[in-house]
Amino acid sequence: MNIGYGRNEMAEAIAKQALKLPFYNTFVDTRNPPAAELAAKVARLAPGDLDHVFFTTSGSESNDTAGRLIHFYNARRGKPHKKHMIARKDGYHGSTYIAMSLTGKILELGPENVAAFFAEPICGAGGVIVPPPGYHARVAEVCRRHDVLLVSDEVVTGFGRVGAMFASKDVSASSPTSSCAPWASRRATSRSAPQFTPAASTR
Ligand SMILES: Cc1ncc(COP(=O)(O)O)c(C=O)c1O
Repeated sequence: MNIGYGRNEMAEAIAKQALKLPFYNTFVDTRNPPAAELAAKVARLAPGDLDHVFFTTSGSESNDTAGRLIHFYNARRGKPHKKHMIARKDGYHGSTYIAMSLTGKILELGPENVAAFFAEPICGAGGVIVPPPGYHARVAEVCRRHDVLLVSDEVVTGFGRVGAMFASKDVSASSPTSSCAPWASRRATSRSAPQFTPAASTR
């Protein structure tokens, strides 16, 4: 959406690729050069060590994908009970099942049951709320202390819309995942990504 509607070059690129691609899925065993080039570019632009990219078609789907990967990640590291995913009051992360059900507090649920905390760097849908300096770094610290992954939802703030390429760059060192639109994509670091594939797989 932030590149605008009715753009010829966008429609032409989509048409060209649709005519060329015989088959494609985002899960396994398929690749195509434009997707690979775009993933490399997103990884280059992304803050910190976020270097794995999974393309989705909306912000909601990005956050649901984050949730599914996080459940899988915790199951792989022997913590299958660590499943609750929480967010702030008035935060908005989308209309799909996981994105709509983010709720609760770490200490209330028990840190051993909390998998991830989702937060927008700047609240959008719940009212434009810019956090005080240091807020997200502090949030990241609390998450780290409780072994809770921090998901920085950049659906509204990503790709230069608030100045820097990504608003979460100040917490990226400790933020292992990030969701963003408009393309949309979901990114993860090498620290968490190896858990996403079978141990010996290099796919
Ligand atoms: C912060 C944030 N995350 C996720 C979403 C959901 O994105 P989409 O409408 O593309 O599913 C929105 C939508 O406004 C949003 O503001």
